[in-house]
Amino acid sequence: MKAYMTNGTIDFLQKLDKKHPEFNLHLMSSSESGIAYYENNNKKLFNAGREYELLMQTGEIQKEGFVVMNNIPVADDSKPGFEHRFKNRTNAVEGMPGFQAFRFLRPLQNNTYVVLTQWSSAADFENWKASDQFKEAHKGQAAKQPAHFTERPFITTCTMLEED
Ligand code: HEM
Repeated sequence: MKAYMTNGTIDFLQKLDKKHPEFNLHLMSSSESGIAYYENNNKKLFNAGREYELLMQTGEIQKEGFVVMNNIPVADDSKPGFEHRFKNRTNAVEGMPGFQAFRFLRPLQNNTYVVLTQWSSAADFENWKASDQFKEAHKGQAAKQPAHFTERPFITTCTMLEED
């Protein structure tokens, strides 16, 4: 399964969604732009945009919610090790209050992996971030292995756009 993401104005993405209901676009807005996210077997709606292999998924992406994407640039030779760590993840995030969905995306055109989580509210995400479960899931990473990351990971937060 593949996953795709494209940025654009909200107006443009909403029109696109109406024109292509078969793509089941998930529309969200970040502080910078609108984002359309969709999953399918190999069918691109745009030439521009980002393409991913959907490596792991739990939960259904809901129409409403707060989305946090952790974008992690990983050097080529570190990719297998990085993915291996996710295979051995703690699987605790699924049990947290307000959890809706998790996706682990391998980039097909660049080096930036995306760890996407969707929550009922921003407060639910903050609660997970402050929890022992988050600490346990991230024990010893990042700071100990800076060479794996070609640049600093960065976070994108989004709110799902209501559909009419
Ligand atoms: C910026 C610093 C971060 C880095 C480099 C990072 C990297 C990693 C790595 C390598 C793992 C696999 C477990 C391990 O090896 O320890 C992991 C687990 C995870 N990370 Fe992060 N992470 C960071 C912050 C975040 C943030 C802010 C989010 C919010 C979306 C997030 C979402 C997740 C999730 C959902 C898991 C799986 C947890 C579970 O199985 O319960 N991470 N992270």
